[in-house]
Amino acid sequence: MTAHHSLALPNPYYASRVNKRSHAIARLPSIPKNGSPVPHLTSLYHFHDPGDYGDRSYPGNCGGNLIRDLLRYFQPHSVLDPMMGSGTCGDVCLELGIPCRSTDLKTGFDACDADGYQLEQTFDFIWAHPPYWRMKLYSESDRCLSRCRTLDEFNLRYAQFIRNCAQALSPGGHLAILMGDYADRSCGQVPLVYHTKRLAFDAGLDQACTDIIRFSHGATSSRKAYRSSFIPGLHDVCMIFKKAGSLSSGERLVEPKVVD
Ligand SMILES: C[S@@+](CC[C@H](N)C(=O)[O-])C[C@H]1O[C@@H](n2cnc3c(N)ncnc32)[C@H](O)[C@@H]1O
Repeated sequence: MTAHHSLALPNPYYASRVNKRSHAIARLPSIPKNGSPVPHLTSLYHFHDPGDYGDRSYPGNCGGNLIRDLLRYFQPHSVLDPMMGSGTCGDVCLELGIPCRSTDLKTGFDACDADGYQLEQTFDFIWAHPPYWRMKLYSESDRCLSRCRTLDEFNLRYAQFIRNCAQALSPGGHLAILMGDYADRSCGQVPLVYHTKRLAFDAGLDQACTDIIRFSHGATSSRKAYRSSFIPGLHDVCMIFKKAGSLSSGERLVEPKVVD
């Protein structure tokens, strides 16, 4: 056997069919002590329990524990979820006693409408979990973000969506967007996290805090075996933006201050 042969790796496609599935345990960095009301909420969201919110069988359902932790941290008095899907955010708000308005294209509300939302109130916090372009298709409607034919078309409508959210936020309010990059069959790797940041800044929003990398426990792709070789993406990203100004009451956040 040559050196080359002895270094050859087993074909991972066949190996994955033979090997038993294993869950690696990764050691996470320690969390600095601080005044957060939700000390376990860090830039790494690794909890596999989705919580009993929404409907796990709804395509793209996101689990509610991250939403719950964000709401406990930011303590808003009103919440909007303009792409509610199965209503995960609304269920969390119900549990926490926060008034929440939940809408979706499927309930007749186009969150990307060029005329904005025309709502009678603004909101302290908006939870947004849009389609990751066409990674999953949500409806037949041409207005569905997942039906955009090109990335340019998606970005145009996504930009309008983010502007609409920025407009619907109270001064000092927060917009949390959960988004993931993915490998598109014809366009290759689509950097949707980058586009989200770019469009949010263009809409006049600022980054509020660290991004939160959410480990994708339970993704259907994790249960598949592929013939091709690639670096699997095992996370999506929750980005939190802030509108200038300050909330009239209830905002309890303090800037991080190093004490020793
Ligand atoms: C990723 S899913 C949200 C899942 C939800 N977070 C849950 O836990 O069930 C994205 C949602 O965006 C909705 N959507 C797509 N385009 C829309 C539009 N233009 N206006 C409003 N909702 C839209 C889809 O119908 C779908 O329910």
